[in-house]
Amino acid sequence: MDQYIIKGGKALAGEVCINGAKNAALGILAASVMTDDFVTIENLPDVRDINVLLQAMESIGAKVERVNRHTARICGGAITSVVVENEYIRRIRASYYLLGALLGKYKNARVSLPGGCDIGSRPIDQHIKGFEALGARVRIQHGMIEAEASRLAGNHIYLDMASVGATINIMLAAVLAEGQTIIENSAKEPHVVDIASFLNSMGAKIKGAGTDVIRIVGVPSLHGSTYSIIPDQIEAGTFMMAAAATRGDVTIRNVIPKHLEAISAKLVEIGAEVEEFDDAIRVVATKRLGHTQIKTLPYPGFPTDMQPQITALLAMCEGTSIVTESIYENRFKYVDELARMGTSIKVEGNNAIVNGVAELTGASVCAPDLRAGAALVIAGLVAEGYTTVEQIHYIERGYECFEQKMRELGADMEKVNSEDSKAIQKFKLKVG
Ligand code: EPU
Repeated sequence: MDQYIIKGGKALAGEVCINGAKNAALGILAASVMTDDFVTIENLPDVRDINVLLQAMESIGAKVERVNRHTARICGGAITSVVVENEYIRRIRASYYLLGALLGKYKNARVSLPGGCDIGSRPIDQHIKGFEALGARVRIQHGMIEAEASRLAGNHIYLDMASVGATINIMLAAVLAEGQTIIENSAKEPHVVDIASFLNSMGAKIKGAGTDVIRIVGVPSLHGSTYSIIPDQIEAGTFMMAAAATRGDVTIRNVIPKHLEAISAKLVEIGAEVEEFDDAIRVVATKRLGHTQIKTLPYPGFPTDMQPQITALLAMCEGTSIVTESIYENRFKYVDELARMGTSIKVEGNNAIVNGVAELTGASVCAPDLRAGAALVIAGLVAEGYTTVEQIHYIERGYECFEQKMRELGADMEKVNSEDSKAIQKFKLKVG
């Protein structure tokens, strides 16, 4: 099994370039099969979740050509099946976007019920409510979710919570429904906007993405397009935290600073310097940072996908911080792993009371999910001595070349096979 080995203690410095947004890419790839024309998607991140979705699309007959590492040409015209039952697909949450896409196009779809990171129960009742409102019959049988309709007709849908996935899935099905669909209390995340922009570039008529009311006028068909995905807000935020935690000076390139405002604001509040440029952001920390209170909220609030990383940072800052998780019920599982490195964090319900400690020490830890894995790496970059992070396949779901990018910023970090004692020894000899 691959693991990261890290020797902590180096301040990160230099520049890092951010890849395309994983969560936008997942929706955009699913949407790309909604036309029979070829579609070219640029700035695709080369991460596990994306590659799994591409394989699943191929398994139903879609043509997928990898033009280069970050560009794919896709043609949904050759689709022969609406049943997506790839052995890997249920491991990724966003497999359910194929349900909205295929239901919209073929009025019929069967997709394995999604899995994803274990961060709490993740119902899909709002997706189902939306599909049913458009006229589909939805059933869950034998681990598959099935949706079919003789025709889809626009409707007025009020989401009980601003769910990112439900907003995107309903939008996908509704672009090819007859008449107007209004989604109220829709999610406003940047990737919702990006997926809507992509669909519009294919001829859809979507207005209001990025606000809490999205209006869609159905069109009979979509056409080909070439589209470049927005930068990944969470990858950027993760490097911002790593820069601050190591008291470094890092310029993060290929970002949209507006998408990072909630993260930047918290860093400034605890004493880091954050400088914004047109498409870059620089984070500098020269001293031990201070404490704060954070509550995760839908965009434009502080993102839940940055909660573990900022908790890791606050665990080494001065004073007591409170982190409240309001999106997921079980997103503090990594706290016990952080504790192995000497942190002092007490979880009470949805709150983590984080008592900053002056020093962390390296330990062997295990990534319980994607973002928590990134948080453990951040702690490892600061901890005295060696840290090994296991189960890095979670981290590789969402971060491209994570260890390489960290190394380019000066970190002592490598990916090694846990059985390869020679490689581990070699790393230790190299970094001293
Ligand atoms: N929810 C319901 N019913 C639904 C849908 C959602 O109760 O039908 C609840 C969920 O249980 C959760 C909350 O609403 O408590 C928010 O869920 P949402 O639907 O917004 O999340 P998601 O679409 O499943 C996406 C990202 C997550 C990210 C969340 C929140 C993708 C593929 N995943 O998930 O990303 O945490 O939005 O921003 O876009 C990650 O990248 O690490 C990740 C977990």
